[in-house]
Amino acid sequence: MTRPDPPTTPPAPPEPAGSTAAQSFSEAFGSEPSGVWSAPGRVNLIGEHTDYNAGLCLPIALPHRTYAAVRLREDRRLRLRSLQSPKQYELDLDDVRAGNPPGWGGYAGGVLWALEEAGHQVRGLDLMLDGQVPLGAGLSSSAALECSVAVAVSDLLDLGLTGNDDARATLAAICVNAENTIAQAPTGGMDQAAALRCQVGHALLLDCRDGSIAQVPFDLSAHGLSLLIMDTRVEHALDDGQYAQRRASCEEAAQQLGLSSLREVAFDDLDKTLDRLPDITIRARTRHVVTEIERVRQTVALLRAGRLSEVGPLFNASHASMRDDFQISCPELDVAVQVARAHGALGARMTGGGFGGSAIALVPAERAAEVTSAVARAFTDNEFSAPHCFAITAGGPARREF
Ligand code: GLA
Repeated sequence: MTRPDPPTTPPAPPEPAGSTAAQSFSEAFGSEPSGVWSAPGRVNLIGEHTDYNAGLCLPIALPHRTYAAVRLREDRRLRLRSLQSPKQYELDLDDVRAGNPPGWGGYAGGVLWALEEAGHQVRGLDLMLDGQVPLGAGLSSSAALECSVAVAVSDLLDLGLTGNDDARATLAAICVNAENTIAQAPTGGMDQAAALRCQVGHALLLDCRDGSIAQVPFDLSAHGLSLLIMDTRVEHALDDGQYAQRRASCEEAAQQLGLSSLREVAFDDLDKTLDRLPDITIRARTRHVVTEIERVRQTVALLRAGRLSEVGPLFNASHASMRDDFQISCPELDVAVQVARAHGALGARMTGGGFGGSAIALVPAERAAEVTSAVARAFTDNEFSAPHCFAITAGGPARREF
């Protein structure tokens, strides 16, 4: 499915950031919000479909954020509005359950539900969202939504879930529960960790086996590089069964191998391990996960050594693995990465859950414009919808704006 035309460049946030959400809140609800909180979308540099395999991934926070203007209520009512959606919700917190409310309201209501589930006392709220993270582009607009609401509620109720990284890890797990249980998307947790735990100018090395992190320097301009997002505008959805199928294959593989997860497969033993898996598809899925975790390790080693410009071949290998072994690419993503490379990208790969959404390209800064126009031309030639390309840097985590 192709989405309708978006603006060609992401809108610049108004000053102060979040003021549009606050103003619209006042218009909708007749008084001012208690404040505005925000959380970023994310793009994963490398380490795809590894999070639910207890593996490693390496996201950065986007400069694009979702702003949540919030005021708590005395009762358990939820009144939810978004500037990006005509859909409005009014319901009781007690009516939030698996699959209800459907649509974006489930992510917001789900956070309240999951906080309560984790033992916190919560109340209803009025909410106005202004989401600047491109929707359906594989850039985690849903995690940005959840995390913006989560930090707001934590601050307003003094739950202490934003003050340090350990607390934020706990809050991330709560948001994952909201997404898995209420929104019913069986995702792995990378996105919420990125929205809550990334730091400006750094990539987040997340070890999904124990939730530990390391901040890895990611300074593009110091290396004369740009990171381009190439949003194919092919709608990607995580609840259409394909994502769940991939996850099930990985769990099946681990079970056949007698392991708790595919993380336990040593890279050096990969060939021997694959010989023990009779099914060719399950073998290919396993090969992707194990090689991808190794590529994260190698990428991090290069970044730590100040060799950012050398990660391109790892990006390329990651894309091939997702296209051939994990089978989650699509023609638009394949064209975007091929054309980007042909026009000077040092490496390019699809990113996120797959089946549409976005690819990234690491490009010498002076060639970013050329890559952008070449990809646009190639999409026209192939009769694809116009892509949406833009350069990004590593942004900061969820926070209170004012
Ligand atoms: C989606 C999910 C994540 C992760 C990625 C693939 O973004 O939400 O948990 O599995 O896909 O790496």
